[in-house]
Parts: sequence; structure tokens; C-alpha cells
Amino acid sequence: MTTAAYPAARFRRLKSHAALRALTAEHRLTVHDLIWPVFLRDGEGVREDVASMPGVARMSVDLVVKAARDAADLGIPAICLFPYTDPSLKTRLCEEAWNPDNLSNRAIRAIKAAVPEIAVMTDVALDPYNINGHDGIVRDGVIVNDESVEALVKMALAQADAGADILGPSDMMDGRIGAIRNALERAGHQNVTIMSYAAKYASGFYGPFRDAVGASGALTGDKKTYQMDPGNVSEALRLVERDLSEGADMVMIKPGLPYLDVCRAVKDRFGAPTFAYQVSGEYAMIQAAAAQGWVDGEQVMIESLTAFKRAGCDGILTYFAPAMARLLPS
Ligand code: PBG
Repeated sequence: MTTAAYPAARFRRLKSHAALRALTAEHRLTVHDLIWPVFLRDGEGVREDVASMPGVARMSVDLVVKAARDAADLGIPAICLFPYTDPSLKTRLCEEAWNPDNLSNRAIRAIKAAVPEIAVMTDVALDPYNINGHDGIVRDGVIVNDESVEALVKMALAQADAGADILGPSDMMDGRIGAIRNALERAGHQNVTIMSYAAKYASGFYGPFRDAVGASGALTGDKKTYQMDPGNVSEALRLVERDLSEGADMVMIKPGLPYLDVCRAVKDRFGAPTFAYQVSGEYAMIQAAAAQGWVDGEQVMIESLTAFKRAGCDGILTYFAPAMARLLPS
């Protein structure tokens, strides 16, 4: 890399005109980089604001179908479903998770019927259905791995049967990617893809999400026996390698902005389709500061999402997806 000395080199020359800035821009977001996470709830015509996530609402299936139509029209390639589960349906063994007619599976069918061009992504983890809010089954205070994997496989198959295009195991149990992949192959779901939440940290940034899915009150203890220590990066690489070797098609790093170094390292090392999740707390912080007038919300939205592209991500799960898409050519 050679750069002439001043004044032969003046970095401001290329910044002196919008056209020159456009020509020399290195990384730019497109609408094809966006996955929109949405929250589901029971009922019809129901739209319920999530207090800790201004601009985000839980929607009943009929309204989620309309939202998926709007998202597809904006050019957003995928929508990701998270159910708010009625507390009466939560059990110790999480049986509602693989009910073919649970809220999430009903929404998958409805969206695939009405808006076939949008990819539907799911969350594979037991927390919405678990009486104690954990992603796996709890026995005597321990989150048991292998029994949880069996449950996750049933859950994943029910989602694939309903028509899901992308399964997102977010549970961090060991062996779940291989088990789900084998089960999908055996069931004839060869083209159902897996985006593994490979490097998922035990993070304080998930707070508003747990509110949105009604898991905050339920959670006993923390998730540190399965989610990652925020200081670890070698472990992230090993987890990504492990999940790819078990049959993940795409990998995800979560949360997003505080872990951009992990995104870059993963992309450079493996070259696999790499995604980041700009999680609920990241969204809430930007919205809260913008509402106070402390930052320009639109500028910070664009800047934060562009940062993921700079860090090597192929795409981003973000609650800003429709707002961002409206500013981008489709
Ligand atoms: C749970 C799950 C979580 C999120 C996605 N799937 C929360 C958690 O692990 O406690 C968080 C998403 C967000 O904060 O936006 N399986």
C-alpha cells in the first residue's frame, strides 16, 4: 500500500464532491442485507406495542402476513418469527415448541401461503415455551444438553414441515446442528437451511427481547452455562467451525455492534455466509437516545448497519429492517 506525501496526496480531494464520495465508498448496505425479526401474538387484528422497543409491536398472524407483504415489497429477503407465548402454554418439557399448530407454525404457513417470495426464518430454542425461561430443558436446576437437543430436533422438524426456509438454532446446546441436519435429511427437507447462532454471548443486550416474548419474568438464573463469555473470541471461532462441520449453511454472531471483531474474524477464517444480529438492546439504546434528541436516529441507524458490512457480514438481523429498507433502492 503506497500513499504519496502531502501535498501530492490530499485525502480531502476525494471528499470534495458527493459524486466522488459515492464513487469511492467501500461498503454500502443494500436492502438484500436485511432480515427483519418480528414478534407474534395470538388473536386477530392485534397490534401491541413493546414498551422497551419503541416502533416495535407484537402482531397477530393476520397482521404479520400484511407486514411480510410490505417487507417483500420493500425488497427485504427474509423475516424472522419470535412468538410471545401465553403463560398457560409454558411447561417444564416445553411440548408447545413442537406443536404443529403453535403460533409460530401457524404464522409460517400463513406467510408462505400469502407471500411465497419472502424467506421465513425461525428461532429454534425452548425459551418461549419453558416455564423457567431457559433455552433448554431444566432438571434439578441443570440445563440438560442431550434431552434438550432431542426436543429441539422435534421443534425444528415441525417448523420445516410448516414451510420454514431458514431454521435459526439460538439455544447453544452442543450437538444440535448435527442432530437437526440429520433429521431434516431423513425427513426429506434437504433444502431447509440452517443459520446457526454459532457465537451467541450471554449478554445484557437481550433485555428488551425477553420483555417482548414474555420471558423476562420467567427466567430463573442466567444463561451462562450455555451462552458465551463476552471476553471470548477463540471460542467463537471454534464454535463456528464446529457448527459448519455439523451442517450449518450460515452462521451468526450475536449481539452485533459490540462484537464486530468477532464478525471480522469469522468471515476471514471461514468465508461462510456470516450474519450478525443487532439485538433488542442495541435497537432500544438507539431509539431511546434518538427520542431524547441526543443522537440523530436515522443517521445512527444507517451508520450502525453499515458497520456490519465493513466488518464482513453478509447480512444483519435488525428491528430497523423496514425503516432502513425505505431509505434504500429495492
Ligand atoms: C432466545 C433468543 C434470544 C434472542 C433471540 N433468541 C434471547 C436470549 O437468548 O435470552 C435475543 C434477540 C434480541 O435481543 O433481540 N433463544
